[in-house]
Amino acid sequence: MTPDPVLRPLAADDAEAVLAAFRSAPDMARQGDVSTPTEARRYVDRLIDLAGPHRAFAVDDAGTCVGLVTVTVDAVNRSGWFWYWMHADHRGRGLAQRAAATVADWALSDGELERLELGHRVNNPASGAVARAAGFVREGTEREKFLVDGRRVDVAAYGRLRTDPAPSGARLSLFSGVCVPQER
Ligand SMILES: CC(C)(COP(=O)(O)OP(=O)(O)OC[C@H]1O[C@@H](n2cnc3c(N)ncnc32)[C@H](O)[C@@H]1OP(=O)(O)O)[C@@H](O)C(=O)NCCC(=O)NCCS
Repeated sequence: MTPDPVLRPLAADDAEAVLAAFRSAPDMARQGDVSTPTEARRYVDRLIDLAGPHRAFAVDDAGTCVGLVTVTVDAVNRSGWFWYWMHADHRGRGLAQRAAATVADWALSDGELERLELGHRVNNPASGAVARAAGFVREGTEREKFLVDGRRVDVAAYGRLRTDPAPSGARLSLFSGVCVPQER
């Protein structure tokens, strides 16, 4: 039987898989500038630097990073900006929902944060489904926030508080390793 994917800290040797993910779908262009091996290494190095604000978890399917869920910590406010992507070949498996729910639980417990927030373009409904599955509550609309291909697009704003109920859906196993909270 194929083992279930797991969550683990992103690692330097995930750069090749990250590049493959960025090359897998046009919508990845909005996730960052990664189109060469050098850019992929730089992207990963920035995310795994524990002196920085990011706590990045790879969705690991049989040893390959096929997705990412990251909390970018705002230590002063004990809050975090929450974001995620999946390699196009691994979308639609429910992995993003399970991974996001797991990392959000971690951030609001062992991660010592009290609020998580995220935003997604309203024409990206899959991202909204992932947010709700991870226990986020819709808090409003940032009207015409982005200019995409010449058209202004609304962004749906979501938040999850430590005191909000945890969602009921499935989780992934998480090996948090060295993804420790920041010094405050
Ligand atoms: C957003 C993203 C991570 C979702 O990944 P995924 O693998 O499709 O996610 P899952 O399979 O876990 O769940 C997707 C959910 O969205 C739903 N969905 C997908 N497309 C949809 C659509 N067009 N309309 C409504 N719901 C949709 C699916 O049905 C599923 O919900 P369900 O299980 O209740 O049926 C992926 O599309 C991605 O990486 N996009 C590019 C990066 C991105 O936009 N990141 C978010 C930035 S805010």
